[in-house]
Amino acid sequence: MSILITGGAGYIGSHTCLCLLNKGYDIVVVDNLDNSSKESLVRVTEITGREIPFYEADVCDTEKVIEIIKAHNVDSVIHFAGLKAVGESVRMPLEYYENNLVSTLHLAEAMVKTGVKKLIFSSSATVYSADNEVPLTEGGRLGCTNPYGWTKYMNEQILRDVSVAHSDWSIVLLRYFNPVGAHESGKIGEDPSGIPNNLMPYVSQTAVGRREFLTVFGDDYDTPDGTGVRDYIHVMDLAEGHVAAVEYAQRFTGCDAINLGTGVGYSVLDMVKAFEEANGVKVPYKIGPRRPGDLAMVYSNPEKAERVLGWKARRNLIDMCRDIWTWQKNNPNGFKK
Ligand code: NAD
Ligand code: UD1
Repeated sequence: MSILITGGAGYIGSHTCLCLLNKGYDIVVVDNLDNSSKESLVRVTEITGREIPFYEADVCDTEKVIEIIKAHNVDSVIHFAGLKAVGESVRMPLEYYENNLVSTLHLAEAMVKTGVKKLIFSSSATVYSADNEVPLTEGGRLGCTNPYGWTKYMNEQILRDVSVAHSDWSIVLLRYFNPVGAHESGKIGEDPSGIPNNLMPYVSQTAVGRREFLTVFGDDYDTPDGTGVRDYIHVMDLAEGHVAAVEYAQRFTGCDAINLGTGVGYSVLDMVKAFEEANGVKVPYKIGPRRPGDLAMVYSNPEKAERVLGWKARRNLIDMCRDIWTWQKNNPNGFKK
């Protein structure tokens, strides 16, 4: 029995592959390498000593996915594959709706045709509408502000409907908060193409000298120091959350949404300070205007994950900052040689 990992060469996927292999699971990866490199999986093999069956293919290709499922005796799927840049999704909505929705539709069709009934889906805290109180619980109101977010929202709805029609399926919708960090070896990590949109890749690229300074997007929010507060979660904790979700899918049927966060919010300036302290480096920054669409405070109530999955985040801010820096220092240009 194998687990099919779509988008497994990407940031969260590669860390999850590592955890699954270390736990003794067999996996097979399908990725079109649109936003990743095969090198991430080569490194996972170096770390774990286990080969990874890999197919460079598009998840929208139903026949190919059916062939892979049959060849590897797949019984569960973790669906990471998708486009994820918020700003790009505003400029290219059709590409986002097409890739992110068609991939899920065709993957689910391949699962129906092959009798695979367990699916873990990468959702996001971005599905919660801005008018919720924090901490965010799974029953919060849903609603989005950009095409990327809507693709997550619509995928959740599609999968809820699939679970009604197929009552023996197990579908887990994992709503990630802000994944950061890297495996402690520094061999794999986040490798954004172009100028990073997210805070921590920008911080580490500034520290390594690839960027001159960080722009802090606003210091006039209603937060303790005026800068935005988020729930940063170490990518290895997140990866372990997926292992717990795979195990949960063995013992329940239906469709369940679960937050994966720490429950603790840190501000932009907290993150800069922690990064400087953990690594003994300077992160020059300037205060700039707010980024349109940003909220003051977003953090999770993580209780459901602990209750249902038996999982909770174990790593702290210093672990996150140290591991990002080990990865960044050892790989200043990411996976590129
Ligand atoms: P990533 O871009 O590093 O990984 C996604 C992978 O999917 C890439 O390797 C890409 O090449 C592949 N892919 C995209 N479309 C594909 C297709 N049609 N067929 C095959 N492969 C395809 O992103 P990530 O940060 O690892 O995110 C993984 C998932 O988690 C995504 O669905 C993302 O939306 C979601 N998510 C990410 C974050 C975050 O902050 N990183 C937060 C919430 C949710
Ligand atoms: C962003 C996306 C969200 C997505 C998430 C994970 C937006 C509006 N939201 O969330 O949909 O799910 O990434 O990929 O894009 N910051 C700076 N300077 C920077 C970068 C960020 O000050 O150069 C601040 C932001 O204002 C925010 C915090 O850092 O307060 C975190 O930003 P980011 O890493 O982009 O994550 P989110 O905004 O939470």
